[in-house]
Amino acid sequence: MFEPTILAIESSCDDTSAAIIRGGKVLSNIVTTQAVHEQYGGVVPELASRAHQQNIIPVVHQALRTANVSKSDLNAVAFTRGPGLLGALLVGCSFAKSFALGLGIPLIEVNHMQAHILAHFIDEPTPQFPFLCLTVSGGHTQIVLVKDHLDMEIIGQTTDDAVGEAFDKTAKMLGLPYPGGPMLDKTAAKGNPDAFQFPVGNMPEYNFSFSGIKTSVLYFLRDKTKDNPNFVEENLEDICASVQKTLIKTLMKKLVLAAKDLGIKEVAIAGGVSANSGLRQTLQEYAKKYNWNVYIPAFQYCTDNAGMIAMAAHFQYLKGDFSSQYVSPEPRLKF
Ligand code: KG4
Ligand code: ZN
Repeated sequence: MFEPTILAIESSCDDTSAAIIRGGKVLSNIVTTQAVHEQYGGVVPELASRAHQQNIIPVVHQALRTANVSKSDLNAVAFTRGPGLLGALLVGCSFAKSFALGLGIPLIEVNHMQAHILAHFIDEPTPQFPFLCLTVSGGHTQIVLVKDHLDMEIIGQTTDDAVGEAFDKTAKMLGLPYPGGPMLDKTAAKGNPDAFQFPVGNMPEYNFSFSGIKTSVLYFLRDKTKDNPNFVEENLEDICASVQKTLIKTLMKKLVLAAKDLGIKEVAIAGGVSANSGLRQTLQEYAKKYNWNVYIPAFQYCTDNAGMIAMAAHFQYLKGDFSSQYVSPEPRLKF
């Protein structure tokens, strides 16, 4: 059977990544993170674009070399069309278009959020359709009903901030260095999650709100440091653990509701925040409680990577879903 070999490129935010997939098997997945943003405490879009330009050729070279694949072996070039930062997406899109044009092979545009979910098909075990996927990243918080590889429906989402943003902004308020989410996770591991209470967002149906908890942490810190300027230092681990517990509780409440209403027991998590150790552990506990089969991606496929873009591209290739050379990035791409 013909096994397509595809080069995939991811450049939606601050990771430049390239991967090679052959016959649905990821042969290489190279990710370069951009340290330049650390000094600013967050991603600076213009600097991200410039760093992508510097990184993209070496990253593609390394992906080809690691996979032991040459340019002439490629059957298609895939790239992230959106959602993401326009300037960052432009680098991957322009590179992919030129590469495909030069080699005379098809171009495949991939939706970044769909790709996060399709990361579950890189390694065994893979979820059975239909399944629910809680997709949690720096820009999105969604509950997705996945009916087939390329047939997905968002049934709930955040009405304001993404949960990754809530992690990052809380971490910043606590003086933790960038990137905040992973640092908060690490610090929370040593704290008491019941030390402090924060409100759990309550939106209708399967939707979320995370701006309230961010504001309540802000006021909590303001009040506590008034009496004791060292409050944060003295209670850092407990604050992190308590905030993390609240964020996870908010996510799980809606996931349980959706699974119950739809009668689905195949439940997955995806996106950068699925790397969170508290969320991973809680999902395992809920699996026992509700008799779910749960799917948690390997760490390397949680945060942004081209392996997941390659996996999506593989399914699109099989369907003949190719793009024209006139395609341009779409920062708010939906599916
Ligand atoms: O999927 P991703 O790499 O990029 C986007 O598409 O946004 O997700 C990045 C988000 C950031 O908000 C980051 O802080 C968060 O995922 N994140 C975590 C952890 N690792 C990454 N949040 C909490 N705990 C973690 N261990
Ligand atoms: Zn992402």
